[in-house]
Amino acid sequence: MASSQLILILAVFVATSSLVFASDPSPLQDFCVADPNCTVKVNGVVCKDPKVVTVDDFFFSGLDKAGNTSNAVGSKVTAANVVQIPGLNTLGISLARIDYAPWGINPPHTHPRASEILTVLEGTLLVGFVSSNPENRLFTKVLYKGDAFVFPVGLIHFQQNIGYGPVVALAALSSQNPGVITIANAVFGSNPDIPANILAKAFQVDEATITKIQSKF
Ligand SMILES: *[C@@H]1O[C@H](CO)[C@@H](O)[C@H](O)[C@H]1NC(C)=O
Ligand SMILES: *[C@@H]1O[C@H](CO)[C@@H](O)[C@H](O)[C@H]1NC(C)=O
Repeated sequence: MASSQLILILAVFVATSSLVFASDPSPLQDFCVADPNCTVKVNGVVCKDPKVVTVDDFFFSGLDKAGNTSNAVGSKVTAANVVQIPGLNTLGISLARIDYAPWGINPPHTHPRASEILTVLEGTLLVGFVSSNPENRLFTKVLYKGDAFVFPVGLIHFQQNIGYGPVVALAALSSQNPGVITIANAVFGSNPDIPANILAKAFQVDEATITKIQSKF
């Protein structure tokens, strides 16, 4: 192969590989308020006619209200993303309030489309995330009121209220639609189940242990 051809191939590769986006794509207009009634499927949500957009398309109320933490994990996420605020469509940001009962956890999960920065408004919160294979290094810290912590996009992370009172945290995310994959639910509560023999081998336990865990999801 002539070296000029090789250079051309390399140039094309570099040009196309720079088209990878680290967050939601930038908008090409002032706003693109989501039209939930549109049946056309696109990457994001179709814009509604700007003439019928109102101020309330950019508004959400209720983040002052504590979520109900009476559940198995002792935490509740109140999301404010494109589902609740149609005006967030194409903007690449969203918000969530998280409430934690004493010793409650936000179980290990990932956001496939967003990095997250979380700040503690009230209480004491143990947080952590784990880096990719093969290191799988745990980065963990105790946060107090006013502290902030970053969870990089895609990495498994968790939080636990380690105080005796409630914890309130506010999280900002770098996607209008960050997505959530809760590890336990996805692995042990998929529909239909991942075959128990696969999970038994993956987790190096017997199948009875797997079916017992699956029965909880
Ligand atoms: C969607 O359709 C419903 C039922 O026709 C209507 O009530 C609602 O206002 C529509 N929503 C928008 C954002 O156009
Ligand atoms: C909180 O959730 C629990 C369990 O679903 C329910 O029994 C309880 O009534 C809820 N509390 C409030 C204040 O909504």
